Amino acid sequence: MRFLTFDELTPSMDADRLLVHLSALGGAADRRAVALWRRRSNLYADYVGVFAVERGQVVGQTLVKRLSYTFPEGTETIGAIASVGTRPDRARAGVARQILTEVHRREREAGVRFVALWTNLSWGAHHLYEKLGYRDVYAFPWAVRPPGRTVAPSPVRHRARPARPSDLAELERFHALRARGRIGFCQRPVGSFRISAATKEFDPARELIVVRDGRSVTGYALAQYNASRTTCGEMLVSSDRARASLVTEIERRAKGTAVAFHMTPVSDAPKFFRRRGYVTLTSGWYVFMAAPLQGEWTVGAAIAKFAPDDPRFLCMLGDRF
Ligand SMILES: CC(C)(COP(=O)(O)OP(=O)(O)OC[C@H]1O[C@@H](n2cnc3c(N)ncnc32)[C@H](O)[C@@H]1OP(=O)(O)O)[C@@H](O)C(=O)NCCC(=O)NCCS
Repeated sequence: MRFLTFDELTPSMDADRLLVHLSALGGAADRRAVALWRRRSNLYADYVGVFAVERGQVVGQTLVKRLSYTFPEGTETIGAIASVGTRPDRARAGVARQILTEVHRREREAGVRFVALWTNLSWGAHHLYEKLGYRDVYAFPWAVRPPGRTVAPSPVRHRARPARPSDLAELERFHALRARGRIGFCQRPVGSFRISAATKEFDPARELIVVRDGRSVTGYALAQYNASRTTCGEMLVSSDRARASLVTEIERRAKGTAVAFHMTPVSDAPKFFRRRGYVTLTSGWYVFMAAPLQGEWTVGAAIAKFAPDDPRFLCMLGDRF
């Protein structure tokens, strides 16, 4: 088995890569989108990912981003591992384990001290990660409003409206301002909203909602809609009124279907959601795991380092990896 980087894949291997990604996880890292992120930011590791190749065929893959993480004692870059997948006809042959071992070697060589990933506590992958030294750090909270409630209009001065492309730079500044003094995923790559919109990872007009008081932004939320439910894992506000306006607007757009908030939007205001009639869960099945690249650690040590229980902790949309 050979381990190749993103740039070393031939066009036919790239087709195999997409097959592995889509069949394992339903996703597809688009080459044009990756190229745009690489041109405009340092989001991806220089090698982008590690791909296991056997007899010219990609049999497993992993993508690697580099994110800033603000620990209680300071900010550093961590390796953010995403989209781990193996072809089912090559399962349990050590493909994923070898790919991750190669990723760890590369990250250690780059001076990275911690690697992290998201998985589900009930999946087989969780065993794989535990064997490789990852420990559970953060299984995030949920707040859900059942279908069928009517919604009052938001107060006029704080009316929420769809974001425009011209808002994106201002929203990036608002995020940076509101994240200051917090811990966790506080620092995003410069231009992250603008690049995400350019790569069509989200549609500002449909998914991003802004609320202003006069000329200044007082909050924004990013929500995904489908016919049966709306979910929001990203919302930052500078006042309770802005939060109420955004939540009211998201509920209005849900047109009577279920609405769910998760991660920091919930932990920043649990009482707000309970007062509004939401049912809440302090932690669900999806979990953030982290491993040190030197030595081993316990769950307690991992939680003490990443500090997800600190009230300042910030994690929105899993910070998209
Ligand atoms: C999870 C996944 C990547 C594992 O790939 P793999 O190449 O089969 O894994 P490996 O052979 O390297 O497994 C190494 C060890 O991990 C653990 N492991 C892997 N798959 C497991 C499973 N389904 N159930 C329990 N343990 C599992 C085992 O301890 C295994 O060692 P063993 O075979 O000696 O018992 C693969 O099953 C997959 O692509 N699943 C679908 C997508 C997915 O869930 N990806 C993870 C997203 S977070």
